[in-house]
Amino acid sequence: MLHLKSESTSQWLNQVDQHLDEILIDHAHCERKAATTAMNLMNSYTEHRNLCREMTRIVEEELEHFEMVLCLLDERGIKFRRLAAGPYGRKLNALVSSQEPERAVDRLLIASLIEARSCERFSLLSEHVRDRDAGLADFYASLFESEARHHTTYVRLAEHFTSREATRVRLAQLSSEESEIIAQGSKLPRMHS
Ligand SMILES: [Fe+2]
Ligand SMILES: [Fe+2]
Repeated sequence: MLHLKSESTSQWLNQVDQHLDEILIDHAHCERKAATTAMNLMNSYTEHRNLCREMTRIVEEELEHFEMVLCLLDERGIKFRRLAAGPYGRKLNALVSSQEPERAVDRLLIASLIEARSCERFSLLSEHVRDRDAGLADFYASLFESEARHHTTYVRLAEHFTSREATRVRLAQLSSEESEIIAQGSKLPRMHS
């Protein structure tokens, strides 16, 4: 359902164990950036009524998630701060075509893959901390459903710019690239490191 070609390794869970606070701060930034991505797509494709409607909903939900993660940080006494961005988003965005309509398809499919990887990581994180931190486990389990829905929405919208078959082929290509990028990892502990 999530169209991912690989599962996260224990290397990321080691980062979770050693740098949980920093990963939670990064998660807040991820939600803020997810809202920005949806807003940018709406700005680029204003003539697509359906896209604008879906993006409006996603912007609202991502900003709500942003606020939820900020509250979680407050409850845990973790100060929200700027962080250097990890390489994941930059490497994925480098794959975006410069020509339309391929560009729209790529932007939407990359957004869909980021949502999918978030889902996978939220669920891993939730299981990983369940025994020692049920509150955090419940929090991550509660976010899974909406991020999975965002993944599906982005894939469906990509089909408005090309055929369903072309979408499927490009999604498979980009998903392979995403798996390679995630396998490279990053020394910076991040939600997508
Ligand atoms: Fe979100
Ligand atoms: Fe999302």
